[in-house]
Amino acid sequence: MSAPKKLFIKTYGCQMNVYDSERMAEALGGEGYVETKSPDDADMILLNTCHIREKAAEKVYSELGRFKGLKAEKPDLKIGVAGCVAQAEGQEIMRRQPLVDLVVGPQSYHRLPEMEAKARTGEKVLDTDFPEEDKFEKLKNRPKAKRGPTAFLTVQEGCDKFCAFCVVPYTRGAEVSRPADRILREAQDLVERGVREITLLGQNVNAYHGAGLNGDMTLAQLIWELDKVDGLERIRFTTSHPNDMQDDLIEAHGTCAKLMPYLHLPVQAGSDKILKRMNRAHTAESYLRLIERIRAARPDILISGDFIVGFPEETEEDFQATLDLVEEVKYGTAYSFKYSTRPGTPAAERAQVDPAAADDRLQRLQALLTKQQREVQDSMVGRDVTVLFEKAGRFPGQMVGKSDYLHAVHVADCDRAIGDLARVRILSSGANSLAGALIEK
Ligand code: SAH
Ligand code: SF4
Ligand code: F3S
Repeated sequence: MSAPKKLFIKTYGCQMNVYDSERMAEALGGEGYVETKSPDDADMILLNTCHIREKAAEKVYSELGRFKGLKAEKPDLKIGVAGCVAQAEGQEIMRRQPLVDLVVGPQSYHRLPEMEAKARTGEKVLDTDFPEEDKFEKLKNRPKAKRGPTAFLTVQEGCDKFCAFCVVPYTRGAEVSRPADRILREAQDLVERGVREITLLGQNVNAYHGAGLNGDMTLAQLIWELDKVDGLERIRFTTSHPNDMQDDLIEAHGTCAKLMPYLHLPVQAGSDKILKRMNRAHTAESYLRLIERIRAARPDILISGDFIVGFPEETEEDFQATLDLVEEVKYGTAYSFKYSTRPGTPAAERAQVDPAAADDRLQRLQALLTKQQREVQDSMVGRDVTVLFEKAGRFPGQMVGKSDYLHAVHVADCDRAIGDLARVRILSSGANSLAGALIEK
């Protein structure tokens, strides 16, 4: 038997790309590939790319440039571009970087084995279709390989919201939900392979409406089905849109013990004028009332958010409204970005904000968000939380895991194994993590 071929995948962007990279590795695993951690000994390199901001997209070309020497040494090396840049730029990638052999969009990953075979014959291959068939069903599972305690599971993909700044509706396509039985089967399989916590993924995960036994199911109904899976201890989901936050999902946060008290609910801005221009279809006030209702159902829930500053036409006063909203919500974590012009999106055509003003706003917003994040983290000191251990720490006897609220927690003198859950008393709060001690030895 010949030695296995080696596959190096580098993943950029969101959690869905992480999930997709795993599926691609499995699909090519069927063709005799094993994964390698270094591009140097790879027979195939795949970049799973992100198009969300200009910097993310440009990174791909600089990374590709770095493989020139490698390809010169090893003419059989095949280089592929997958993900959202592949979808958005297609053929253009091969024009700009001739060493690329293969371009594959997010909806065509199940066709990778055939594409790889074609590329091996020296042909350049491109597939950025939105095919009818269910790619998830066609992506082969490697038999029962053991897994770590946490996993992502895509339940919904694509977006119909068309926020004026965003490329996702173009790169991921129209909103599609996977049927519930297939998700449940995949969850069961993950649990059998050692997974204890599943994060359900979707660009608009709370718009989930996959087919169930009695018609379409909501995300909350899907969560209640997953709640019945023995051995699955924790359920999370991301990312949600404020307008799809249904009553049953809010209620589940108060009643479903496996559903973790953490919610990523991007608002983007606090000015109604800007929200309208962003095509977000919610106001600052409606968002604040929604947060109130969620906190009524689950008072200790940790809220996380996304923000864009310097969106076209944003004034200092508009930006102040964002700061005011942040003050009111008190975020446990947040991601904030300077607006990046994306060709083909409606906002790209509008009057752009002075970059220096946008930089200044980003700094001010990040200072406030960092302060809040630290306050929320510090407020955990003295509390008891449940930790799912994910790895050994740097010191002997130390283990590291995540609390229900997704804080990293270091536990010294810990005799528990990876994948165990334990009650931990939080003793101190550091720069980016908490430290605690097991409550029962
Ligand atoms: N599907 C998710 C996230 C999409 S991308 C959702 O709807 O929330 C993640 C974040 O990137 C967005 O929430 C937004 O804050 C940011 N983002 C998207 N497009 C951007 C752009 N053109 N410039 C800057 N940030 C952007
Ligand atoms: Fe992009 Fe808006 Fe859709 Fe989120 S809801 S993926 S920000 S278009
Ligand atoms: Fe990026 Fe595509 Fe995800 S643009 S954020 S990889 S959906």
